[in-house]
Amino acid sequence: MNARVAAAEPALAAALNLPPDPHAEFVLEHAHGRLQLRDTREGAPGPLYVDFASADAERRRDAGRQLALARAVGVKGDARPSVLDATAGLGRDAFTLAALGCDVTAVERSPIIAALLRDGLERAACRLRLVVGDAREFMAGLAEDARPDVVYLDPMFPERRKSAAVKKELQYLQELLGPDDAQALFAAALKCARQRVVVKRPVHAPELARPNHTLEGKTVRFDVYLV
Ligand SMILES: C[S@@+](CC[C@H](N)C(=O)[O-])C[C@H]1O[C@@H](n2cnc3c(N)ncnc32)[C@H](O)[C@@H]1O
Repeated sequence: MNARVAAAEPALAAALNLPPDPHAEFVLEHAHGRLQLRDTREGAPGPLYVDFASADAERRRDAGRQLALARAVGVKGDARPSVLDATAGLGRDAFTLAALGCDVTAVERSPIIAALLRDGLERAACRLRLVVGDAREFMAGLAEDARPDVVYLDPMFPERRKSAAVKKELQYLQELLGPDDAQALFAAALKCARQRVVVKRPVHAPELARPNHTLEGKTVRFDVYLV
């Protein structure tokens, strides 16, 4: 957990406050026209970066999950709720919700993950708002009229899905980030959302609390809490 990261370029080092570190396990760098995080250790998986073109293809293949996500947040007919994604990560879910027409604000507390996401969003010309910081503080500081219809949570949970992309992403995230504060985020989300809180979980994972209803896919489910 909390592996060491160095930046390959002075501008990145300054922007993300990453001091030079010759022993860093990870290097953040611009390569192949994108920002990427590379694990420098022998036998490590390839670099981590955000590519919404491939996420798009994945989504098309996984239309069932997209539908479940849309229904879970309340996309129906012309209804497009505003969504605060409080655990943005690499932004797949936030991007999907924005593509569905929701007004999305995504919050990510890791400045490195957020930098990868911002780079992917810029390349995809996606306009969702990205906030770097702790979502609990962000939610607590929102003015009454800025509260979202929906707060969406996807806290980290050890996955059993075997796809190589998911395994690589998890490996990076688990080394870079500490454990998620799922219960505390959930409590803050219930105070912040106007309509509902949606929590994504692997199908086998315990619930954070008893949901009002659940939409289940093959590998993940969405627990819906009406407020
Ligand atoms: C499993 S990932 C989310 C993946 C995301 N749903 C996607 O589609 O790519 C969880 C992310 O939530 C972030 N996170 C956890 N607690 C947070 C908090 N209190 N505020 C903001 N971000 C948080 C972690 O840093 C991590 O990047």
